[in-house]
Amino acid sequence: MKIFMDTANVDEIKEFADQGIVYGVTTNPTLIARSGRTQAEVIPEICKLIPGPVSAEVISTDCQGMVKEAKKLAKIADNVVVKIPCITEGLKAVKILHEKGIHTNVTLVFSLGQALLAARAGATYVSPFIGRLDDIGEDGVQLVADMVKVFRLYDLPTQIIAASIRSVDHVNKVMLTGADIATIPTKVLRELIHHDLTDKGLAKFLEDYRNSKK
Ligand code: G3P
Repeated sequence: MKIFMDTANVDEIKEFADQGIVYGVTTNPTLIARSGRTQAEVIPEICKLIPGPVSAEVISTDCQGMVKEAKKLAKIADNVVVKIPCITEGLKAVKILHEKGIHTNVTLVFSLGQALLAARAGATYVSPFIGRLDDIGEDGVQLVADMVKVFRLYDLPTQIIAASIRSVDHVNKVMLTGADIATIPTKVLRELIHHDLTDKGLAKFLEDYRNSKK
């Protein structure tokens, strides 16, 4: 499973860019707003920091508008992926963009049926939102597991990005499903490295090293 960062905060991306663990980045209008900057400012900077796929979302809701925005976004850098909402007009846009060789990430996916339609329209990536499904009492991780099964069963090339991840437990569970990618918020990414026993073990090793030199 590849790791993406789910943030539009350039400083946060810089913190991880040289660790070699982050393969791509996903953003959305909420994350852009939270960064306090514009999409036009942030996306080119992120694309320079991270050579892998960087998702930037359209805000149009009609096919023509989405395609127009997508073409503009795709010109920013070779690694831009255009994020398109999973609505009828969106899937029409995905088909057109696929034919033009522009990579897409179909977002706001909450069901197996939506995922299949996105894949059949030609989406490069599809993003099931697991935390938001958990919020309404459904099982987000189970949706990812079902998607992995269906995509393998029918040999669909679309990659699955587990999104709306809220915890280390989510990351561990989607890893076991065989999802291609998890897009992880910075807070959760920082927590992933930490384990109490690592800290305690290291403290003890250093203490024993110091004592052995006395
Ligand atoms: O990648 C999608 C993500 O940004 C949505 O997360 O926590 O707002 O449901 P959340």
